[in-house]
Amino acid sequence: MQKYTASARFYDLISAEWPVYRRGRAAGMALLDLTVGDTVVDLGCGTGLNFPWLWRQIGPSGRVIGIDRSPDMLAQAARRIARHRPGSADQLIRSDCADVDFAAIDTGEHGPVRAVVATYALSLMPDPHSVLQRVCAQLPDAAVLVVDMAQPVGRGPLGTALTRWVGAPLARAACRAGGADITARPWLHLHTLAPDHRDVEVCGGHIHACVGRSPSS
Ligand SMILES: C[S@@+](CC[C@H](N)C(=O)[O-])C[C@H]1O[C@@H](n2cnc3c(N)ncnc32)[C@H](O)[C@@H]1O
Repeated sequence: MQKYTASARFYDLISAEWPVYRRGRAAGMALLDLTVGDTVVDLGCGTGLNFPWLWRQIGPSGRVIGIDRSPDMLAQAARRIARHRPGSADQLIRSDCADVDFAAIDTGEHGPVRAVVATYALSLMPDPHSVLQRVCAQLPDAAVLVVDMAQPVGRGPLGTALTRWVGAPLARAACRAGGADITARPWLHLHTLAPDHRDVEVCGGHIHACVGRSPSS
């Protein structure tokens, strides 16, 4: 948690969002099929970089519930909501995702949770499988999106050389700096939990997006 305390105020600037990680976010969000008014849970929401993408799909009547264990990251997320959606039903919960009772999330008049997203977050968690398992067991028929990092592989002779000498060391350094396990490949858990999953890769295989649907109850 230490990593996302002092740096929280600068996270959006130092996280390489524009050159790299925005591309994975865009690819992942394009896999979601949300409608106006939907409720979406954002696991390890951080400063809320997903929120504008989700807000565009769910509209003013929709609701984002962001969960994060870092109070400093949540403070930035709260600022984002206050700036862009004052008075909305969006909600932030401070918790370790491993401890959340998803079935108990109060969606009020907003209806059931339609989607759960986890971008660049599950690879920081010690047991991503159990988190996804709980999500799938407790939130039936929800779209589950995982966007996360892996060792890039590159494409073609030039791409492979560039990846090996430049991309791979940079990717490893970025994951180390953020406390992520580049070998975790958390979307693979979704492959077993949601058999109808769809996947895309961007940035030479450094970023992987996978969406699946939790089983109906
Ligand atoms: C690399 S940041 C990604 C933030 C955001 N999802 C994004 O796409 O920009 C990882 C976030 O996951 C949070 N996190 C890590 N482990 C967590 C856990 N077990 N429970 C809740 N949040 C966690 C961190 O506090 C941090 O805000």
